[in-house]
Amino acid sequence: MNYLIPYGKHNINQKDIDAVVETLKSDFLTQGPQVEKFEKAFAKYVEADYAIAVSNGTSALHLCSLALGTNKHSRVITSPITFVASANCIEYCGGKIEFCDIDPETLCLDINKVKNKLENAPKGTYKGIIPVNFAGFPIDMEAYRKLADKHGLWLLEDSCHAPGGFFYDSSMKKQSCGNGKFADTAIFSFHPVKHIAAGEGGMITTNREDLYYKIKLLRTHGISKSTNLSNESPPGWYYEMQELGYNHRISDISCALGNSQLKRAKEGLKKRKAIAKKYLKDLSGLPLKIPSANFSEGHAFHLFVILTEKRDKLYSYLRECNIQTQIHYIPVYKHPYYKSKYGSQHFKVTEEYYSKCLSLPIYPTMTKDEYLFVVEKITNFF
Ligand SMILES: Cc1ncc(COP(=O)(O)O)c(C=O)c1O
Repeated sequence: MNYLIPYGKHNINQKDIDAVVETLKSDFLTQGPQVEKFEKAFAKYVEADYAIAVSNGTSALHLCSLALGTNKHSRVITSPITFVASANCIEYCGGKIEFCDIDPETLCLDINKVKNKLENAPKGTYKGIIPVNFAGFPIDMEAYRKLADKHGLWLLEDSCHAPGGFFYDSSMKKQSCGNGKFADTAIFSFHPVKHIAAGEGGMITTNREDLYYKIKLLRTHGISKSTNLSNESPPGWYYEMQELGYNHRISDISCALGNSQLKRAKEGLKKRKAIAKKYLKDLSGLPLKIPSANFSEGHAFHLFVILTEKRDKLYSYLRECNIQTQIHYIPVYKHPYYKSKYGSQHFKVTEEYYSKCLSLPIYPTMTKDEYLFVVEKITNFF
């Protein structure tokens, strides 16, 4: 190939461009009709009761952490194999983030290890869990709900990798990732490498009305404009800041793109699944490991991760062939900020995973030639 094949890529078409241009020509650049339209359509897509659009996935995590009551007394558990934002949100609120090892097959938090951690700590030590649907694997949130209820914890599902993903609950009912049925809140990102691009953007979903109103308030400085607030006359201008909030709003321009992209989300997901299915078949005879997560029916395949002891050599070889793979992720506890704050940490499965993982190219516009080229080069390497 005479160009670089990336590991992930956004997919912008003329309809997306037209939608953005139309909004640019409209009366609203921010907080106009596109925001609410995006919220309603996204809530429907993931089958949640409420959705709140925000400036990015990180601000979504921040607002959820605040709304769930995180403060300097809060200790919260998450996976070390995630983007730093899943942990940073607790740090923003002055809380303490703690990591737990991952499951070698799902590559997500190992629920049994979380259970042990909770059972071996005095009652009330932890306030919440942030399970991450890593790579698009749909975590069994029903199991997490049971665990959380037993210990009086909240659940914040980081579903940035899994819009459209699903699992079957104990009564074999399909449950969409981030549908708010089990988690208190869930969050998504519309960064361009994700399923739906909005430039920058994020979404919070929940089925809890109290959290919906609280998060909406925090999204705009804690300011309420409700007409019931005052008898000031004439009506319409009055607003008041009820608590310390933020400007974590998203623009109408971004939501115009998000709305247009959302219309093709199912199609994009289908293409990701088709590519994953081909990888599963074409790589099966090679001396590399495919985690069983990749065989899950409800996987949303933001990433397609393989494991090999020759990871560094394979990465460099593919890079020489103009194929960009990526390592997801550096365990969060290894970053200098976390190391200096919490000291050196070591989680066996996480460390082993980190030494072997490689994310292969997967994106809806990946051509047959690009796909065949990637598989041919991986096969040649082994
Ligand atoms: C798992 C996970 N959580 C949170 C985020 C943060 O999203 P954003 O980049 O939109 O702030 C990302 C994005 O990279 C992510 O992959």
